[in-house]
Amino acid sequence: MDQVAQIRERIDIISYLSEFLTLKKAGRNFKAVCPFHNEKSPSFMVSPERQMWHCFGCNKGGDIYSFLMEYEHIEFPEALRLFAKRAGIELVQSKYDAGISSKKERLYGLNKLALEYYHYILTKHEVGKNALTYLTKRGLSDKIIETFQLGFSPSRGNSLARYLVDKKKYTRDEVIEAGLAYPAGRDLVDFFKGRVMFPLIDHRDNVVGFSGRILDDNKETSKYINTRETLIYHKGEHFYGLSVTKDAIRKAGSVILVEGEFDVISCFKEGISHVVAVKGTALTEMQVSLISRYAQKITMCFDGDRAGQDAMKRSLPIIEKKGIQATVITPPDGKDPDEALKVNPTGFKIAVKKDVSVYDYLYEQALKSGDTETAEGKKMVADSFLPIIQSMTNEIIKEHYLRKLSTALGTTYESIVKELLRIVKKELTSKIKVQEPEQRRNREEVLEEYLTSLILQASSPQATLKEALSELSEIISREKAYQKIFDHMLAHFEKEPTFDGNTFGMNLPTELLPIYNTSLLFPLPLFSDESKYNAEVKKVAQELKSLYLKEKMKTLSEKIEKLEKDGQRDHLEELQKEYSQLMARMPKKGL
Ligand code: CTP
Ligand code: MN
Repeated sequence: MDQVAQIRERIDIISYLSEFLTLKKAGRNFKAVCPFHNEKSPSFMVSPERQMWHCFGCNKGGDIYSFLMEYEHIEFPEALRLFAKRAGIELVQSKYDAGISSKKERLYGLNKLALEYYHYILTKHEVGKNALTYLTKRGLSDKIIETFQLGFSPSRGNSLARYLVDKKKYTRDEVIEAGLAYPAGRDLVDFFKGRVMFPLIDHRDNVVGFSGRILDDNKETSKYINTRETLIYHKGEHFYGLSVTKDAIRKAGSVILVEGEFDVISCFKEGISHVVAVKGTALTEMQVSLISRYAQKITMCFDGDRAGQDAMKRSLPIIEKKGIQATVITPPDGKDPDEALKVNPTGFKIAVKKDVSVYDYLYEQALKSGDTETAEGKKMVADSFLPIIQSMTNEIIKEHYLRKLSTALGTTYESIVKELLRIVKKELTSKIKVQEPEQRRNREEVLEEYLTSLILQASSPQATLKEALSELSEIISREKAYQKIFDHMLAHFEKEPTFDGNTFGMNLPTELLPIYNTSLLFPLPLFSDESKYNAEVKKVAQELKSLYLKEKMKTLSEKIEKLEKDGQRDHLEELQKEYSQLMARMPKKGL
């Protein structure tokens, strides 16, 4: 057995996935709400037998490796390495060592060294003195500097690059690729110079990049700069602080979202440790997915300025889509959390406790956008809040705000609803144009897959197969994939009375595996007892039977018609007889 299979064997998919998802037993399988698309009722199925998963909502599926790759956005070799570590198996040199993943590992290593270098300069070296004084002035203790692994990048041209190349024997190209330096002729120049360094560490404790802040606000240069896009640093995929605060977030079940590095650090220092920063950009779907593993509530505490408010509005639909509760904190003096905590820590902590639903907050904001005594003002208020109501997914909440708005504007509930519908219509017409025609499978295919699932997931697949075939055996096309699966089952039962989904699957031809695996995992409805289950099998088999018969009869009647037209009467009688025989075989009731 190769190591990939050996490791897969050691890790049970059910207990592994349970660390990420809430799995519920469903017949032979388990089901969960899919982590890869937005849904309310579970269509993510896991088979303990096959050690596989499949989501019937977004059509993704596979084994533990593909799960982790999808979940963490990593390549196979990295997933392999992580599982090997977990399974306590040492990987022998393999074809997977080369390529993109080990390159990533090299970059993580480089960034880690850079972190240590910057940290050393800040805390131990003469060159870092000013920066240390700056941080002390901003209220940071040695302990905090340690916790967040802060550093300082020397102002002199290339000291980090030389350290990495000369001392640590990384190549020039690697240092450039990590975004830590750029080429200048034959030399290298450090990317970060004379800045306080905030390492960006992901939730798996990899150092992926940095942001650096200048010491002197009057300088004619960006206050903050960030690592450029690299193989391991992608804007909008990480949070600043998460590696330090994730346990506190999980414990609280909620997270406070702030804008900047200092906001995170000051909150943390004041004992508010369930906090992360988006770093001055709008929240992305990727980030919401990531944080939703730790928190069920996101509390936004953005700057009181226009940009902060816009960031909040843009973040809201993404949070809502994930089904996460969203609230807002408004610090007493409208500053950013770092400044607010400096001026009035108690006030800020009270504000944290008094977070309000984002909708209430935006509603209050909207009311301020126009004079509700005038017609024009009413329109302005409605225009700013109705799109927000429109984006709400819960009908009760929607109606709550519609009523509230109609009262505030002194207009009838009906006209508010009318206005909302007008907005919806406008949106719909613009959406319809871009929508692609939905590909619908025909009824036959749906039933075939359903029947196969019923048979494979039955308590006795052998008996259930027999039952279904008693309806269908003579009329199914031998070419159909699922008939081929039935044939393999029949052959199997000739030698062996029991049925084990995994061993059976391993002996199937590869081209049948996709259909086999999805059928084995397909989420079946709940049946109260065995007889209901069997009745369903019979019903589905009969419906399929009548579909097949109808199809045959259709072909036949076309032939008959043609013969009649051409005046060829020889075969006609034979075909007509065949037709009435098919007719007689049609299942009787309910169809
Ligand atoms: N930011 C950035 N690039 C910039 C400006 C800002 O990445 N050119 C990010 C930083 O993470 C910063 C956050 O956006 O912490 C908030 O920016 P800003 O409001 O300008 O930060 P301040 O609170 O003014 O920064 P400080 O407290 O350090 O003075
Ligand atoms: Mn600030």
